[in-house]
Amino acid sequence: MNLLLNPNPPLQGEISVPGDKSLSHRTVILSALAEGNSTIHGFLTGKDCLATVEAMCHLGVKIDFLDPETLLVHGVGLHGLQAPKQSIDCGNSGTSMRLLAGILAAQPFTSVLKGDDSLQQRPMERIVLPLQQMGAKIVGREVSGRIFSPLEIHGNTSLSAIDYEMPIASAQVKSCLLLAGLYAKGQTSLKEKGASRDHTERLLQSFGVALSIAQNHIILTSPTTLKAQEIYIPGDISSAAFFIAGAAMVPGSHIILRQVGVNPRRIGIISILKLMGADITIHGPRLICGEPIADIEIKGTKLRGIDVPSEMVVSAIDEFPIIFIAASCASGTTHIRGIEELRYKETDRIEVMAKGLKILGVSLEVFPDGILINGSSLNEGTVVSHGDHRVAMAFAMASLVAKGSIIIRDCDNIATSFPNFCELANQLGMSIHSIED
Ligand code: S3P
Repeated sequence: MNLLLNPNPPLQGEISVPGDKSLSHRTVILSALAEGNSTIHGFLTGKDCLATVEAMCHLGVKIDFLDPETLLVHGVGLHGLQAPKQSIDCGNSGTSMRLLAGILAAQPFTSVLKGDDSLQQRPMERIVLPLQQMGAKIVGREVSGRIFSPLEIHGNTSLSAIDYEMPIASAQVKSCLLLAGLYAKGQTSLKEKGASRDHTERLLQSFGVALSIAQNHIILTSPTTLKAQEIYIPGDISSAAFFIAGAAMVPGSHIILRQVGVNPRRIGIISILKLMGADITIHGPRLICGEPIADIEIKGTKLRGIDVPSEMVVSAIDEFPIIFIAASCASGTTHIRGIEELRYKETDRIEVMAKGLKILGVSLEVFPDGILINGSSLNEGTVVSHGDHRVAMAFAMASLVAKGSIIIRDCDNIATSFPNFCELANQLGMSIHSIED
C-alpha cells in the first residue's frame, strides 16, 4: 500500500488511539500462564500483537475474542503449555520473538521462532547469550559472530536464575529474562543501564509475582502460580505520539487524545517536545491496572530546535522518527546523539529517515549514533518507508508542514501497530488516501 497525503489545515478534534502494543503482548502472555481466565480490555489488534496471540494458541492456549478489542484468555498455568505442531511465526514483531524466547527456553519441548525478512535481520544475541547463561539451549543463525533468527529453542526445565547487568537499555531483553526467571531455580537479578519501560514488572506484580525493585535493579523470586486478572489497556503513547507531535508543530492545531498511557518511562516524546516549546497539557492523570493514564491536550505552535538530553532517549526510543519530523520544521538545529539502538529497529531508522528527509529537502548530518537536523521548510516528494510502520506514519505527519503533496511507499506495516491510523488522521483533518503503485 502507498499513501498520498495532501497539504491540510491544522489538526482539530478529539480521538482515542488503540491499545498499547507493549502491554497487549505482555498481558496475553501472562494471562496464558496464569491459573484461570483473564479478560483483557482495549487489546491492540495490530498484526504484531496478533502474532503473539497466534503463538500462544499454537502453544495450546485457548483465546476467545469477545469483541475486536476484548480477549478472554483461558490460562493454562505456568506448566500447561504444549509443544507447537509447527514453527511459530512472529512476523515483523521483535517483541513477540524476544518475549516468547524467554518462556520457550524453559519448556519441556522444542520450538522454533521465525519472522519476516526485517525481523530475521535483527540482533538476537542480546537475549540468546544471557538465556544460554541460564542453561537454555538455543540455536540461531550465526553470521559474523552475531546471532539472528530463526531460533531453534530446545527447552530446558531446569534453568538457573541469572545475576545479570544488561549491556543495553532494552525492555525486550529485560522482559525476556524476567519471563525465563519465572521458571528458574533461585532469584533472578537484573541491573539496567537506563530506565527502560517497566510494563512487565508492573504486570508481574499484579499477577502476584514477588519482585523487589530498587532504582534500576530488579530481583524476581520465581512464583508457583500466576493469578488471572481483569486488565484494561490504555491507549498507546507511541501511536498517540504522531498526533501529539503533528498538532504541536502546526500553529492553529488543537486536539485532545483520550485515555493515553503516560507511564513515566514512555513519555520522552512529551518531555522532548516541551523542550522544543510545545504546548502540551496532561489532564486527569489516574492509575488503571497499575499503569498511569491521562487525557493529553495539544495546541500548535512554532517549535524550536534543541540538543536532545541523553537521559530522555530511552523513554522516547520508538518516537524518534516523528521527533526527526518535528525537528525538520522547527527553527534552528536539533542535535540528537546516543540513539544507536535506532539502527536495530524494524529498519535502521537513522538511515531510512535521513534518506526520506533529504528527498524532502531537509539539510542534515548523520552520525553513527545520531543525527543533526537543520530545521527549514519541507518540500513535496515521494519517500519510502521500507516497511517500517513508524517511518511511514512519521512521514505522513510531514504532510502537515510540507509545501506540497507527499507520497509514501510501502505502508502496509502501519497495520502492525496502528491499524486505524489513516482513519483517525483524517478525522483530525488530514487528507490521506491509499493509492496504487
Ligand atoms: C518494546 C521495547 C523497545 C521498543 C519496542 C517495544 C517492548 O525495544 O523499541 O517497540 O515492548 O518491550 P527494545 O527493548 O529493543 O529497546
